[in-house]
Amino acid sequence: MGFVIAVDGPAASGKGTVASRLAALYGYAMLDTGLLYRAVGVRLLGTGGDLDDAAAAEAAAKGLDLAELERAEVRTRAAGEAASRVAVHTGVRAALFDLQRQFTTREPGSVIDGRDIGTVIAPDAPAKLYVTATPEIRAERRWKQLSGQGEAVAYADVLADIHRRDARDSGRDSAPMTQASDAVLLDTSEMTIEQAFDAARRIVETARARSGNLPG
Ligand code: DC
Repeated sequence: MGFVIAVDGPAASGKGTVASRLAALYGYAMLDTGLLYRAVGVRLLGTGGDLDDAAAAEAAAKGLDLAELERAEVRTRAAGEAASRVAVHTGVRAALFDLQRQFTTREPGSVIDGRDIGTVIAPDAPAKLYVTATPEIRAERRWKQLSGQGEAVAYADVLADIHRRDARDSGRDSAPMTQASDAVLLDTSEMTIEQAFDAARRIVETARARSGNLPG
C-alpha cells in the first residue's frame, strides 16, 4: 500500500491546487474525484437523462469511460452543478467506489481529492487534509477560473452556486462532505497559493514522520 494523502473540502477551496502540487512534490499519482462525478453528470445530460433519476445516473456511472474526464466540458459551471446532483445517488457513489479505492494502492503513493476521501474512500489514509475558505473567497476564485475559461458569468451567480452546492454536498445522506475526525483543517481564505501549499506540505510531513514514511 502506497502512502495516501486524502484531500477533502468544498468547491474552489484550493484543494485541487494543493493536491496537484503535493503529487508533483512527492512524485505520487493524483486523482481528482470531482471529475468522475462531473463526467457522470455530463454523460447523463448528453443522453437527455434526468439528473434526479437514480437508476439512469447509476447506469451512466457504470458505463463511464475514463477518457471522458479529459473533455473540456467537464470543467464547466453546468458540469459542477450536474456533478453535485448525481453525487447524491448511492448507486452512483457505489459504481465509482472500486476505481477510487484501487487508486489508493498505487506506489509509492497517491493524492486523492474530493469530498469523502478521508471519511469513506480512504479512511485509513495516514495524511488527511480538509481544505476550506469562506464562500465569498471561493466564489471569487471560481469566478476568475470560469472567466479565464471564457465562460461569462456574474459573481453573484457563482456565489449562489457555491452556497447551493455546499448545502447539497454536506446535506446528502450518502457520504456527505464532512471533515474526517483525524483530518487537519487548512483554511486558505487569507493565503496565497504558495502559502497554502507550504502549509499543506508541513501537514503531510508531520503525518509522514508519524507513520514512519520518511522522505528517501
Ligand atoms: O470537486 P468538484 O467541484 O469538481 O466536484 C463536483 C461535485 O462532485 C461536488 O459538488 C460533489 C461531487 N463530489 C462528490 O460528491 N464526492 C467527491 N469525492 C468528489 C466530488
